[in-house]
Amino acid sequence: MKILVINGPNLNLLGTREVGIYGNMTYKDLENELLNYAKDKNIELRIVQKNIEGELVEEIHKAYFEKYDGIVINPAAYTHYSIALLDALKGVALPCVEVHISNIHKREEFRHTSYTAKACIGQISGLGIDGYKYAIDFIKKQIITDENLAQSHKEH
Ligand code: DQA
Repeated sequence: MKILVINGPNLNLLGTREVGIYGNMTYKDLENELLNYAKDKNIELRIVQKNIEGELVEEIHKAYFEKYDGIVINPAAYTHYSIALLDALKGVALPCVEVHISNIHKREEFRHTSYTAKACIGQISGLGIDGYKYAIDFIKKQIITDENLAQSHKEH
């Protein structure tokens, strides 16, 4: 099972950036923690971070062409206005969960809207770095359920 974790702009500054909101963990720490988490669960995980919208679109396409089973995405600020990311996620139609480290609904009004969540199964917001782990677990469960359903349809 292959899952792609995609992070948007400024998340490379984790550990430096607004630590009161995003915490002390660096981006490298986040990468290591998620890679270890996935390894223990036998999931092949790739984690990327891009500051540029078009590069995030390309990563979403890559998930499709390289046959990933699902996407966990923190589109960061692009969440709130990127039709390009929304269309890309709709276009590849892979199971996707949106994650935010902070609770976007408790913050400024402009953060309450998510364009990208419209193409996701759901959104996890405000649970810190653990949100990524819950999203990975959910996608894994979803894929296994879908595979079992497909198998039982074949048998009947
Ligand atoms: C964020 C929330 C966004 O509003 C913000 O622009 C980010 C990070 C989060 O993880 O809490 O860059 O996506």
